[in-house]
Amino acid sequence: MLALILFLCLSVPALASQSYSIEDTYIGRDFFEWDWYTGSDPTHGIVEYVDKATAMDFNLSVGKSSDTSFLMRADNVNNVPPADPGRKSVRISSQRAYNDSVAVIDLWHMPQGCGTWPAWWTVSQKGPWPQGSEIDIIEGVNNNTRNLGSLHTTPNCNMTQTRKQRGQTVSTVCDTSANYNQGCGVEFKPNSYGLDFNANGGGWFAMLRSSRGIYMWFWARNDSNVPPEVSQGLSTVNPDESNWGVPDAAFPTDECDYVSHFNEHSIVFDLTFCGDWAGSAYSGSGCPSTCEDYVRNNPSMFDEAYWEISWLRMYTPNPDTAV
Ligand SMILES: *[C@@H]1O[C@H](CO)[C@@H](O)[C@H](O)[C@H]1NC(C)=O
Ligand SMILES: *[C@@H]1O[C@H](CO)[C@@H](O)[C@H](O)[C@H]1NC(C)=O
Ligand SMILES: *[C@@H]1O[C@H](CO)[C@@H](O)[C@H](O)[C@H]1NC(C)=O
Ligand SMILES: *[C@@H]1O[C@H](CO)[C@@H](O)[C@H](O)[C@H]1NC(C)=O
Ligand SMILES: *[C@@H]1O[C@H](CO)[C@@H](O)[C@H](O)[C@H]1NC(C)=O
Repeated sequence: MLALILFLCLSVPALASQSYSIEDTYIGRDFFEWDWYTGSDPTHGIVEYVDKATAMDFNLSVGKSSDTSFLMRADNVNNVPPADPGRKSVRISSQRAYNDSVAVIDLWHMPQGCGTWPAWWTVSQKGPWPQGSEIDIIEGVNNNTRNLGSLHTTPNCNMTQTRKQRGQTVSTVCDTSANYNQGCGVEFKPNSYGLDFNANGGGWFAMLRSSRGIYMWFWARNDSNVPPEVSQGLSTVNPDESNWGVPDAAFPTDECDYVSHFNEHSIVFDLTFCGDWAGSAYSGSGCPSTCEDYVRNNPSMFDEAYWEISWLRMYTPNPDTAV
């Protein structure tokens, strides 16, 4: 009998999918426990990342009184004089770091518009970058309407052109020293970014990381296929394909060793302007003037340059279903 029980305990989990249990929930004012980054922008944006006190003084970071949402925005009131580094904005990172995990975000609004370059990403807490890697879950520039999910790693991390994913492969070499740090990116479906995402009332993004790979999903607010465990932020999630559907972006580990490329990551939200990507893509985006002039001299054009997070939940592997 004991042998049978042992047999069942050992064999059933191997057949079952991995489930993940809630570890941390960040809602409203919880984000004030995060760290405000005040260094210069490594991506050369026309931005000035302010500290927490300044962000609160200028109302650039707001935990709404109901505690149900957290808002982070750029200064949309003042011109930026030529001597100043750039438009005041916010970049925050979690104090906690996570290894294998599932991140689920319910997002009402992301920064949109000409000159903007927002990102929601995770990065090695130990570094130095790119050691331990970077995972970009939400990223885009200017008038884009499709989200780009990507990895930026040390050498010898590659993806195949064709994978089981809904999105379109943009590039397959994740190594930051290749292709001017383009990373290996996958473009999501329409409505996943910017104006169109916001017009739809936002939606949910999720990222799973395990030794099997890194997978990302997106559901628009009006997508009836969103799993209830995602939309309701339940305490346990089962992020397998039969339950969540084919991911929008898949980064399997067959040509990218997981253990040597990925360690524990903290979570980052930022919003920069122009710089390496938004700046170089600006002239082809249909946006007016030059990126720098637009960003410095048109504060009211940044009314929609804000993140509004309903909640962010972090899940870690449930040992009872370990694979
Ligand atoms: C700060 O921003 C919040 C959210 O947009 C808004 O409700 C509030 O009125 C603003 N406060 C000030 C002093 O502007
Ligand atoms: C992540 O994994 C490493 C290596 O096993 C371990 O040293 C570290 O404590 C883990 N971190 C967290 C937050 O679990
Ligand atoms: C990954 O791609 C790079 C650049 O194309 C190549 O040099 C490297 O050998 C590849 N590594 C693996 C493990 O396939
Ligand atoms: C959601 O609404 C948008 C805009 O009206 C529409 O284009 C899209 O097809 C809808 N998506 C779903 C899944 O219904
Ligand atoms: C981008 O936005 C600008 C300013 O709102 C607009 O004039 C332009 O037509 C937009 N371009 C595209 C491709 O949507």
